[in-house]
Amino acid sequence: MHDVTDLTLTSKSPQRLTTDVLVVGVAEESGKPVIEAAASFSRATRAAIERAITLLGVTGRAGEVTKIPAGAELKAELLVLTGTGAPAPSAHVGRERLRRAAGSALAALSGPARVSLALPIGDAADLQAVAEGALLGSYRAVPAQDAQAAAEEIEILTTAAGTSGKAGRAALDRARTVAEAVHGTRDLVNLSPNVLYPESFAARARDLVKGTKVKVSVLEEKALAEGGYGGLIGVGQGSARGPRLVRLEYRPPRARRHIALVGKGITFDSGGLSLKPAAGMEKMKNDMAGAAAVLHTVVAAARLGLPVAVTGWLALAENMPSGSAQRPSDVITIRGGTTVEVLNTDAEGRLVMADALVAATEEKPDTVIDIATLTGAQMVALGNQVSAVMGTDDVRELVVEAAGQAGEQFWPMPLPDELRASMNTPMADIANMGERYGGMLVAGLFLREFVGDTPWAHLDIAGPAFNDSTPRHYVPKGGTGVGVRTLLELLAAAGA
Ligand code: BES
Ligand code: MN
Ligand code: ZN
Repeated sequence: MHDVTDLTLTSKSPQRLTTDVLVVGVAEESGKPVIEAAASFSRATRAAIERAITLLGVTGRAGEVTKIPAGAELKAELLVLTGTGAPAPSAHVGRERLRRAAGSALAALSGPARVSLALPIGDAADLQAVAEGALLGSYRAVPAQDAQAAAEEIEILTTAAGTSGKAGRAALDRARTVAEAVHGTRDLVNLSPNVLYPESFAARARDLVKGTKVKVSVLEEKALAEGGYGGLIGVGQGSARGPRLVRLEYRPPRARRHIALVGKGITFDSGGLSLKPAAGMEKMKNDMAGAAAVLHTVVAAARLGLPVAVTGWLALAENMPSGSAQRPSDVITIRGGTTVEVLNTDAEGRLVMADALVAATEEKPDTVIDIATLTGAQMVALGNQVSAVMGTDDVRELVVEAAGQAGEQFWPMPLPDELRASMNTPMADIANMGERYGGMLVAGLFLREFVGDTPWAHLDIAGPAFNDSTPRHYVPKGGTGVGVRTLLELLAAAGA
């Protein structure tokens, strides 16, 4: 974990700051690079930076990071120019640009003691975004041999109204809590599946809630069988490591609303007897990213003291082929009595999620939101950077709105009734597979069968949960922690 980075505020002019690295935002206005905080630099410094911008062809485009020696005029060793892009069409897009500009700069540095950030901060929300981006970009995966050390201290320059004193410190505290939740989620996703399996995941959940107001209880295999959790039992029975259902509870006084969060926690998805191809199977250690996001969201909600009741459900199982594994054509019974014909053991996520959704809705929350690396079809539809949200119209729209505010990309997708018939089977109430085209929507329709009339949204993060490719702005390689910021924003909005 790398959450030791100190966060501080200063209202000093960048010209006079003693620091290792001074990060200065460069915007792209009408195609021209414009230096942030230009007025606070001396004429000589400004001229030197402008000269560097010209010689190096700096544009100010989002994602562009340029490192140059700071020169004798500044009390910094290194000057980093980070692109903030063209003027944003809205406040929340602007905040995401700040998050990314800060993240890009911090991700590009190796072991500085102090990094000072001069970015265009207009209010406390901007300040929080800069701090979040800087911390998220400071994440270094553990254990990573090639990791460059993160900054020890991040100092943020701001003179904007509402960003000094208590209000400023509160914004930094919120940013730290959010970033720690994202980092914790990334860490869990990055763990190897021989280390992270249902039992050890549940043990980590118990450890994590210590010292918070979150209560945790764990249903083990025997209790799951007795409780009729046929989805978790069916999926988990092929593994030597049995399934678990973890329940987390955060109940602040005077909460007016209760939200249940349900996360898919397949600690490894081999496909089961419907075995996946060898190429790429190693990526299926990320199939618990939804459960990791739920765990860290509930803990962060408690740390933030959000005035909303939250119950978190982690549906944990390992999907393995073996002599005891479930077979294609098995008929299982989900909690609550719905029978399912398992046509493909690789469509396991919806089986464990069905059990957990039933358990969650039994408690009559106002809203239930599930998050899962559920379908390859999500990636076909939306790629690796945009997640999907389906569900009842009202909650789906709330998720889209919260994601926008939080700077995550969630796109609304339909649940066409016409596709439901493709899961009809004479053997059971429903099959776990249907029409191939629109596979993400089919999976969403399957889950809908288990939420009754509870207002609900389903988040499919199959692609965005894991970054296979090179790092980008504040997103490292590996686990991304996607969903945490959106869920926290949603909980904050529900408490407001
Ligand atoms: N965990 C996978 C979905 C997935 C694929 C997540 C790629 C991340 C990256 C899920 O359990 C799965 O295997 N789904 C199948 C369903 C199919 C058999 C109906 C799929 O999408 O192919
Ligand atoms: Mn699968
Ligand atoms: Zn899966």
